[in-house]
Amino acid sequence: MPHSCSSLNCTNRFTAETRTRGITFHRFPKDRVLRRRWEKAVRRGGFNSNTSTMLCSEHFRPEDFDRTGQTVRLRVGTVPVCCYKPPDNTAPRMSQTSQKAREPLPVEPPQPAPTPAPLPTVDHAYASTPNELRVKLTEALARVESLEREKRNARDRERRVRNTVSCLLEDLEVKKILNDELKERLDIYSDLPVHLLSKQSHQYTKEQKDFAVTLHFHGPKAYSYLRECLHINLPHPHTLQKWVSSGQAKLDLNKTPDSLRQEDAAAKYLGHQAAANDNMELSQVNALPYEEFVNVFGNVVEKCPIVAAAVSSQRPFADLDALEAAICDFVDALSDSGKEGILRCHPDLACHDLQAGTLTGESMSEQAGAGFDVLGVEEAYTMSCLNEEYKERFGFPFVICTRMSDKARIFQEMRNRVANGFTEEREHAIEEVKKICHLRLRDLVRTDDAAQF
Ligand code: GUN
Repeated sequence: MPHSCSSLNCTNRFTAETRTRGITFHRFPKDRVLRRRWEKAVRRGGFNSNTSTMLCSEHFRPEDFDRTGQTVRLRVGTVPVCCYKPPDNTAPRMSQTSQKAREPLPVEPPQPAPTPAPLPTVDHAYASTPNELRVKLTEALARVESLEREKRNARDRERRVRNTVSCLLEDLEVKKILNDELKERLDIYSDLPVHLLSKQSHQYTKEQKDFAVTLHFHGPKAYSYLRECLHINLPHPHTLQKWVSSGQAKLDLNKTPDSLRQEDAAAKYLGHQAAANDNMELSQVNALPYEEFVNVFGNVVEKCPIVAAAVSSQRPFADLDALEAAICDFVDALSDSGKEGILRCHPDLACHDLQAGTLTGESMSEQAGAGFDVLGVEEAYTMSCLNEEYKERFGFPFVICTRMSDKARIFQEMRNRVANGFTEEREHAIEEVKKICHLRLRDLVRTDDAAQF
């Protein structure tokens, strides 16, 4: 059964004929207060609406409708103006227009001209006299004008935003600083409290220094972008380096992003393989510009370039052992959570990234060297259980210098170490990090030692 309009004496029903006349039907609102106002407006004593009760469009003003979408909707909070007012004569009034509208739609041939917008019917009280009609028309015209103005403004706003965005993108592209890595890194920083960097006095506070150091550690490129392009008040990286090496600032490694980007790792892999085949002299190491030094030694402690940054200013090193000692001192001086942060930068042994080839170059060759890239199904399953059990207990992954061990011993170590106390195990794992670092350093720098594993 078709819906009918609930307004007093309104006979409109939801049929093809009313649709042709442009009449739309609208359910009573869910909001209790608004629904009461609608119920009052239909002027039927004691009337209660339900979920299927409707009013037809003839009980609303033209400006009450939102006709921007495919469906004609009422604007939020709209209340019907009044109910149907019966005409003086009993027979329904039939103007020429309404008579035409009541004729059945021609089936064939289809009318080439578009159906004109339905004229407001004159049967309803809010538009029953020429004066009222004039008022309605003036209101409608004013509304059209205001909507046109809104539309123009919105278009202008859109044009301005598009311009700004395209200028920004152009700028980033010209400066070759817009790439996937930067985008991702900027996303990470989207909610950073950069306001922390507004200087309260001529000096940065301790909190600001720590923040800047941590920010730079997470993404030197993004840091430079924020500093140089967005003019955020960040200190120069050389200053960070001074702060770290003099102990004025420390790194909060717990804020490290989970993993480096795949491309990053692959590039590093290739880069480090090349470096490994062509070890540097210590004199070269001592002469490297800061950025280069951090690039070359940035992964001697897995994914922790801040370590290299911190020791860079202690150059010149007398020998490689001195460089290694400086790194170990820095790691030892970290807080407990800093050390745990360093451990968390390590990937799981035999993880998916190893198969995908997306680990750092060093990690890939170390894990593959111990045979973790070719585990059988059973071994892989055992490894994944041991990894999970270990992480569940300590909150960081199992780290071991694989190059000083072998697969069978590593499995056994995992079983043994999971039984350690927390502090004992954290220190044990940090010692493994140092062993890994020892070997990575020797992959990069030429020494006279014969025994290098
Ligand atoms: N030991 C040597 N390399 C790695 C590594 O990538 N991950 C872990 N967990 N331990 C290692």
